[in-house]
Amino acid sequence: MSVLLLLALCTLATGCGASYPPQPDINPSHLLSLDCNSSYVLDIASDILQDINRDRQDGYVLSLNRVRDAREDRQRAGLGSLLYFTLDVLETGCHVLSRTPWKDCGVRFFHQSVYGQCKAIFYINKEKRIFYLPAYNCTLRPVSRRVVSMTCPDCPSTSPYDLSNPRFMETATESLAKHNSNSPSKQYSLVKITKTFSQWVFGPAYFVEYLIKESPCNKSQGSSCALESPDTVPVGICEGSMSQSPNSPGKLISVKCNFFNSQAPTPRGENVAVNQRPANPTEAEEPQQQNTAPTNSPTKAVLKGSVQFLPDWGKKLEDSQEKEPVETVPVQLDLTTNPQGEPLDLSFLFLEPMKEKLVVLPFPSKGWRSAECPGPAQKDDPRLLPP
Ligand SMILES: *[C@@H]1O[C@H](CO)[C@@H](O)[C@H](O)[C@H]1NC(C)=O
Ligand SMILES: *[C@@H]1O[C@H](CO)[C@@H](O)[C@H](O)[C@H]1NC(C)=O
Ligand SMILES: *[C@@H]1O[C@H](CO)[C@@H](O)[C@H](O)[C@H]1NC(C)=O
Repeated sequence: MSVLLLLALCTLATGCGASYPPQPDINPSHLLSLDCNSSYVLDIASDILQDINRDRQDGYVLSLNRVRDAREDRQRAGLGSLLYFTLDVLETGCHVLSRTPWKDCGVRFFHQSVYGQCKAIFYINKEKRIFYLPAYNCTLRPVSRRVVSMTCPDCPSTSPYDLSNPRFMETATESLAKHNSNSPSKQYSLVKITKTFSQWVFGPAYFVEYLIKESPCNKSQGSSCALESPDTVPVGICEGSMSQSPNSPGKLISVKCNFFNSQAPTPRGENVAVNQRPANPTEAEEPQQQNTAPTNSPTKAVLKGSVQFLPDWGKKLEDSQEKEPVETVPVQLDLTTNPQGEPLDLSFLFLEPMKEKLVVLPFPSKGWRSAECPGPAQKDDPRLLPP
């Protein structure tokens, strides 16, 4: 049975042992370069993005544009593999707190695009049915305003997050007031603005997206209520706009709010990607705090990572003397600098004690790469792909 399973996995992985080309550049030698267009790799990439999005509390859901690179480091027998994936991503219109799966979220229009790259280290042990993301890092950048104005002069021109113009705050407060006045009882207040755009329509038009929370005030108290909610959990996201009316001196305000699924605030509580976990997942996520003794183990694995935002590249060129010919989105993800690797403790994923340690390597970026990498892109536009 297990032999059959192993054979099936080999076929899926498109590379078992001898059939794989040699890896002269990389030491240790069990590092395989995978086919970035294989269903094996695409399925894992999909899981990785799901886990990254689930881990985040801020920003918008990232979707897969293409798999740039995929490496697999087979561990000792029975220990599965550590995978090193580099994914080119695009921001979608769904806020991460909506917990919408990335495949259900549309990417933004070209002129509003935010693109970037994620690196992820993923642990997979099919035998024990463990799929776990110990570490990731992503870097994002808005499509350059220069590029946008070249291709679409009338498109919204501000960078996607710009609070320097007080009109954006005004748009948020006025559109939320409109929503509240239409709301039968519950009132909402602003948590923060998450997106801004402006565009010339019949005059300047401002667009914002913002998170809202429930306000302790009720409707009869109206705008005179100054109570601050102790609870700051965002319950939804609104899109508001403010523009000049074409026929009258007044302003046109529009608003549309979407409320998050109420189970959303504890996304990490249930991680469907990990089958074997201790009964209380919150305990498993704080091993570093529990383990106060100094240890050589570099990474007691908790899901960890961050998403870094870089400013508009075109703006940077204008502002500084730096002549940077390529628009880079550098992502760093190194759990070790030791070329021989270091132990990575994922023992909390296993029900039984582990005798052998997993070995994590510096994130592989050089060396032989499969001809099938990068894989085909969903949006094959060089302006949306990191160099
Ligand atoms: C509105 O809030 C006030 C004070 O919190 C309360 O006394 C009043 O009963 C509330 N009204 C409604 C309609 O809930
Ligand atoms: C993730 O990126 C941040 C900077 O964005 C960096 O400081 C950190 O070291 C990176 N994490 C790893 C594990 O390399
Ligand atoms: C990727 O895989 C799909 C489905 O197997 C195939 O149709 C497509 O031609 C492949 N694309 C490339 C660039 O290899």
